[in-house]
Amino acid sequence: MISRQTIARILEEARIEEVIGEFVKLKKSGQNYKGLSPFTTERNPSFYVSPAKGIYKCFSSGKGGNAVNFLMEHEHFTYPEALQYLAKKYGIAIEVDAMTPEETQAESERETLFQVSAFAQKFFTDNLLETETGKAIGLAYLKGRDLKTDTIQKFQLGYSPDGWDAFTKHALNNGYKLEYLEKTGLTITKDGRSYDRFRGRVIFPVHNISGRALGFGGRTLLTDDNVPKYVNSPESEIYNKSQILYGLYFAKSAIIRLDNCFLVEGYTDVISLHQAGIENVVASSGTALTEEQIRLIKRYTPNITILYDGDPAGIKASFRGIDMVLEQGMNVRIVLFPDGEDPDSFARKHRREELEELTGKGAQDFIRFKTSLLLKEAAGDPIRRAALIKEIVGSISLIPDPIFRSVYIKECSTLLEVQEPALMASLNRMLYQRNRRRMEQEATRQEVDYPVEFQPRQDKPEPESSEYQERDLIRLMLMYGNHDLMIADPVENGEPELHCIPVSRYIIEEIQRDHLKLLNPVYQKILDEFDQALQAGEIPDEKRFILGDEETPVSTTVIDLLWKPYELSENWIKNRVMVISEKEKLQQAVETTILSFKSKTIDRMIGEILQDIKTATDEEDIMALQMRHKALKEISRKINATLGRVVVR
Ligand code: UTP
Ligand code: MN
Repeated sequence: MISRQTIARILEEARIEEVIGEFVKLKKSGQNYKGLSPFTTERNPSFYVSPAKGIYKCFSSGKGGNAVNFLMEHEHFTYPEALQYLAKKYGIAIEVDAMTPEETQAESERETLFQVSAFAQKFFTDNLLETETGKAIGLAYLKGRDLKTDTIQKFQLGYSPDGWDAFTKHALNNGYKLEYLEKTGLTITKDGRSYDRFRGRVIFPVHNISGRALGFGGRTLLTDDNVPKYVNSPESEIYNKSQILYGLYFAKSAIIRLDNCFLVEGYTDVISLHQAGIENVVASSGTALTEEQIRLIKRYTPNITILYDGDPAGIKASFRGIDMVLEQGMNVRIVLFPDGEDPDSFARKHRREELEELTGKGAQDFIRFKTSLLLKEAAGDPIRRAALIKEIVGSISLIPDPIFRSVYIKECSTLLEVQEPALMASLNRMLYQRNRRRMEQEATRQEVDYPVEFQPRQDKPEPESSEYQERDLIRLMLMYGNHDLMIADPVENGEPELHCIPVSRYIIEEIQRDHLKLLNPVYQKILDEFDQALQAGEIPDEKRFILGDEETPVSTTVIDLLWKPYELSENWIKNRVMVISEKEKLQQAVETTILSFKSKTIDRMIGEILQDIKTATDEEDIMALQMRHKALKEISRKINATLGRVVVR
C-alpha cells in the first residue's frame, strides 16, 4: 500500500498541465488550458485543464478528474501504476504503509515469483540466441517459420535445453529456492526428483499488462502425436489464466489507436500478425474467452474482431462465448480464414494488402454471420428454423443498447424473412423475462450502503426540488470552505460581537441549526464529510474528494461542481447569485444561497402540510397543521423579504 501521505504529496506536487501536456497539445486560455479531447475525435477543443484546481474536464466525453484519473483513463494505468508514474516524474520517494505480516509475506512472495519468471525468461532467451544447441535447434525452428530476429527478441522467445534439469540446476545455483521454482511451475518434483517442465521446447513467455513475464508456453519440436503440442505454466499466485490475454502488452497502444482488437487462438498467430504489421492482436491461448478477458479488451476498445480458422462445428461451439462479448456491449465482427489456413500461415503466404483486405473489409458483423450460417443449416427444415430464430433473437437480446438491438431486429427480419413486429415481440418477451429474473435475484441480495442508482446531474429537477440551491451550497463549501466570514453575534445591552468563522462551518451550522437535510444524497455525503473533518479541526479541500482511486458519485459531482464553464450555467443566473463578483461578495453569496435553500425547503414543507390538511379528518390535527402552516408561511415571508433586498453588511 502506498501511504496516504505519499498519495497526498504526489497530488500536491503533480502539475496537471504538465502531466496531461505530455499526451494532449494544450493551449493557454485564461486561467485554464484547452485542447482537443484525447478521448473522442472532436474538431473543436472542449477539453479543459485547470492548473489551479488540479483537475481536467472533457466536455465531449464527460470524463474528468485529477492527474491520477487522467493517467488511468488515458494510459490505462491501474491506480498504483499512475501514482508510481507521477512519483517518478516528480522525484517523490514512495513511502509504503506498514503492512500486516501476512500482507508483507504475500507481497514479497508475488515479487519473488515475478523474479523467478524473469530469471527463467532470460535463461531461455539466452539459450536460444547464444548457445550452439539453442541456435541449431530452437532458433533454426523459429527461422524455419519465417520469424525474424527482431520479432523473436521483441516477444522474448526462448529455448529450454533438452537436458533433464538444466534450468532447475542453473536456477538453484543462482540462489533461487526450489519452493519458488515449483510454485511457478518451471520445475516439477516427483518422487523426490526435480526436472524442468519445459525441457526441449521452444518458449513463448506470457507477459502481464506492464510487460513482466509471468508464465510460459512451451512448444514441442517433435511431430509425435503422443506428445502434447504445447505445455503451459500452471496457475500460480501471479499467473491467473482467466485474466491474461497473450500479447496484450505488445498490442495495447495499437488497439487504442485503431480502436479495434483482433482476437486469435494461438501464440504463433499473434507473433506472425505482428511481424506482418498487424499489431492490435491478442490471443486467448486456445481456451474459451472469460468475462475478465473481455473486460480487459473493453478498457481499450469496444470493437473486437474474431479471426477464425476453424470448421463450422468449431465456430458454432464458440457462439456461446461470443454472446458473452455482446452482453458486455461490445461490437463483434468475424473473419473466416480460408480452409486449412490460420492467421499465421495466411500471413506468411499472402501479401500484406491481402491480409489487410481479409481482416478489414472481409470482417462480417457477428449477428449477420451467425444468422446466415444457421440459415444455411436449417434450409428446408421448419422446426430447426423456429429454433434458429429464437437463437438469433436471444443473441440480440443480450446487446445492452436498445438502438443497436432494433437495428439488428430490422436486419434479421429481412434475412430471416420474418415480419419485424413478430421478432420485436419475441425480443421483448425475452427482455422481460430476463429483467424479472434479475430483479428477483437483486431483491435477495443485501442492500448496498450507498445509492448506486443516484444520478448527480439531474438536468431538470422537479420544481419543488432544492437541487440548484443545494448544489450552490456545496460548491461554495468546496471553493471557499476555508475563507472567513465576519459574523456579528448580538450581545444583550451592548455592541454586537464580531468574530470570524470559515464559510464551511457557517454553512453547516446554519443547516444543522434548523435540523435540515440536503435532499441529494451525494451532496449530503459531502456535507457530512466536511462536518467530520471540521470536528477533527481541519478544513477539507477538493483534493479530499478526488483521490483518483475510484470513480464515485462524490468525486464525479465534485469535479463537475468545480468546473468553471459548468458553473456558469444558467442555473446560477436563475438563482441570481452573481458569479463575477462572487469572491468579493462572498459573504453575501453564502447568505443568499443558504436563504434560497431554506426558502425552497420551507416551500416544500408548506406544500406537504397543505396535502396533509386536505387528507386529515381529525379536527385537532387540522388545527395543529394550520398553525404550523401559518408559522412556516411567516418564516417564508421573512426569508423572501430578506432575499428580495440587497443584503449589505
Ligand atoms: P494451435 O494448435 O492453433 O497452435 O493452438 P498454434 O499456436 O497455431 O501453434 P502452431 O502454429 O501449430 O505451432 C492454439 C493455442 O492453443 C493452445 C496454445 O496457446 C496455442 O497457441 N494450445 C494448443 C495448448 O495450450 N496446448 C496444446 O496442446 C495445443
Ligand atoms: Mn498455427
